[in-house]
Amino acid sequence: MNAVTPAELTDDVLKAFRGTPDARLRDLISALITHLHAFAVETGLTGQEWMTGLQFLTAVGQMCDEQRQEFVLLSDVLGLSSLVDIVNAEAGATESTVLGPFYVAGAPRRAMGAHIGRPQDGDPTLVRGRVTSVAGEPLNAAVLDVWQASGHGLYDTQDPDQPAFNLRGVFTTGPDGRYEFRTARPASYPIPTDGPVGGLLRATGRSHWRAAHIHAIVSAPGCRAVTTHIFDEENPYLVSDAVFGVKGSLIRPFRPAGPGDPPDVSYVVDMDFALARLGAPA
Ligand code: BEZ
Ligand code: FE
Repeated sequence: MNAVTPAELTDDVLKAFRGTPDARLRDLISALITHLHAFAVETGLTGQEWMTGLQFLTAVGQMCDEQRQEFVLLSDVLGLSSLVDIVNAEAGATESTVLGPFYVAGAPRRAMGAHIGRPQDGDPTLVRGRVTSVAGEPLNAAVLDVWQASGHGLYDTQDPDQPAFNLRGVFTTGPDGRYEFRTARPASYPIPTDGPVGGLLRATGRSHWRAAHIHAIVSAPGCRAVTTHIFDEENPYLVSDAVFGVKGSLIRPFRPAGPGDPPDVSYVVDMDFALARLGAPA
């Protein structure tokens, strides 16, 4: 009997999954098998290399719990999280980007214009704008859930000197769709490198720095929510963000405050958000 060829084996495996009742699962698993097999053939993957890969994935899994999601971090540094965002983008809506591991649900609701942090967290910055539909209509009762690291590069959950929910807050718009809040100008910070993903970055000579940003989840009744960032135009890591999260449309100037701006802030950032209506034609 002749030896089985790679193509015959791939075909056998695909046939074994052909009876998958759920059509979408059938498509996803078939494409995954096709690409995984092609990867092994194209690279001439050795048994020892595959074992190293399995040990790496095992270590990634062992680093996952309620506090830490190393698989999400792996997806982020491979650019897969950003690719999924791009594939699912809504035309005309604010672009989305990675959620990251530091989101905490249940941040306090704050009054419009309030400071989400403390004076010692960094240069006081006013962030303001409008939440609209893709067609430009202001969205009433839109909710902005915002969070960020301090000007020292640490989130409250990493820094015993910050109180819980420091630099986090939830704001709700009125009928004009306008919002504003005060915060600290954010700094660049390293993604967690104490796990297997950190090892991967070191082995591949990659940077572990994130470009400075403010996170926001923006939602409104009847609209598709967007998980996104506001990036600081002057940040040096915009071109080498460790998780490929930077999109040109999300970069804003942190303009020095001048005459006509509130006297308690050093910088002003203007950022509008547009949301797609649910059920609207694509
Ligand atoms: C963050 O922005 O907080 C983040 C995103 C992805 C990976 C690590 C950190
Ligand atoms: Fe972040």
